[in-house]
Amino acid sequence: MTDKPQQNQKKLYIKTWGCQMNVYDSHRISDVLKPLGYALSDTPENADMIVLNTCHIREKATEKVFSELGRLKPHKEKRQAETGERTLLAVAGCVAQAEGDIITQRAPYVDLVFGPQTYHRLPEMVAKLTGARQKKRLIDTDFPVESKFDHLPEEHNSQGAAAFLSIQEGCDKFCTFCVVPYTRGAEYSRSVQSILDEAHKLVDHGAKEINVLGQNVNAYHGDGLDGKAADLPDLLSALSEINGLERLRYTTSHPRDMDDRLIQAHGDLGKLMPFLHLPIQSGSDKILDEMNRKHTSDHYREIIQKLKKVRPDLAMSSDIIVGFPGESDQDFEDTMTLIRDITFVSCYSFKYSARPGTPAASMQNLIREDVKSERLSRLQTLLSEQQYTYNKTFMGQTIPVLFDRKGKEGHKSAGFIQGRSEYNHAIHVKGNERLIGQIIDIHVTETRPSSLTGDVVTSEYDSSHLKVAQL
Ligand code: SAH
Ligand code: SF4
Ligand code: F3S
Repeated sequence: MTDKPQQNQKKLYIKTWGCQMNVYDSHRISDVLKPLGYALSDTPENADMIVLNTCHIREKATEKVFSELGRLKPHKEKRQAETGERTLLAVAGCVAQAEGDIITQRAPYVDLVFGPQTYHRLPEMVAKLTGARQKKRLIDTDFPVESKFDHLPEEHNSQGAAAFLSIQEGCDKFCTFCVVPYTRGAEYSRSVQSILDEAHKLVDHGAKEINVLGQNVNAYHGDGLDGKAADLPDLLSALSEINGLERLRYTTSHPRDMDDRLIQAHGDLGKLMPFLHLPIQSGSDKILDEMNRKHTSDHYREIIQKLKKVRPDLAMSSDIIVGFPGESDQDFEDTMTLIRDITFVSCYSFKYSARPGTPAASMQNLIREDVKSERLSRLQTLLSEQQYTYNKTFMGQTIPVLFDRKGKEGHKSAGFIQGRSEYNHAIHVKGNERLIGQIIDIHVTETRPSSLTGDVVTSEYDSSHLKVAQL
């Protein structure tokens, strides 16, 4: 996420933690600040404004923010001393929403704290901090009645070939372990028209893939083009009509809202990619109930069966928490059995961590740290085996890949271009940078536990193949 700052432009540095929605928000924060003259920079050195877009989902999140703030403080002070320029240091996102007051108490050098629902107001906030009667500090962690989506600029910085688009935000599910309903607020869905407008802009800026986002994306229910309510399958089929948009994905869905129409869309919509992230959290019905997940493990299995009927090659991904309060050995074994039955091609797994203010934080029967670690390690071994076994089935195959970036300098991906298969594999290829932004056939030459390597498929043509075009 960098533009080349030109002279007289102000430098904006954004560091993002957390889910894809935060990544999307960071793009939009840069869009809001662009008309004020801020251009993205990939280093905090000499930045005029630094935004830490934070995540509060698990423990240590807040500590990470404070240690980052501690590292940035000398930059801010040095710049002020040497040039007299004030660096605006801002904390945004879910830690800002949950712990705004604590941030300004512990780090009084922070200039600005704003939540996920107020960043459309950044121009006013920045004006108050930099105007003639400079305010020392500002906090805006409201849940405003107006939606930020109605106030964000129409213009976008490019997100490249694979873009995110938030269509739904907030959560009314209240899983007992989770902070999201408190940090992001109640469920809200954007209108189909505003989503289509934004999708067209993204495609104009080079997007070939759009991943529509929501904390509970399949609970989407926005105003449709005909004035009636539209659901996610309606929206996905409207998006499918966009010329130049080749791939669609949606993240993150809840099993409870996986209805038959959405399942059928996986069979009907050619642009909907055969990869689905559907968090289960546990394979034990007792724990699922304690988590207030509102579904059972059998319900989850049923969904997968139906999905595979309409899209047999669908690759499944999930989220799992181990060591939730009261999780017995048997409960954990039920989770392992579920994983063996389903086979995930990728899966995020976490040790339960108590989040202040959530119902589970006051539950009894806490699981010892060493037991959690042991369970997590057994679970991750199984998940890695499943992923590697799946990846190996691609050896020697030719598959289409959307290239969206070049490898990082100084990293093992340096010198490669990177992209994603339809099944969401990370792919590395030695190829020309001009392939970035295109969907190209790749011959898989090496399979790794969490990625594939391949060669661009090439052919030889003589000039006869040009004749048709010349006629
Ligand atoms: N909306 C998504 C998940 C959002 S949070 C859903 O409903 O599944 C991403 C993941 O973080 C969750 O799926 C869960 O596995 C994990 N997570 C959330 N709270 C947690 C906690 N207190 N401890 C450990 N993991 C947690
Ligand atoms: Fe959190 Fe549950 Fe809502 Fe997902 S569905 S965001 S886990 S409360
Ligand atoms: Fe984290 Fe907030 Fe996303 S807590 S997971 S950044 S919604």
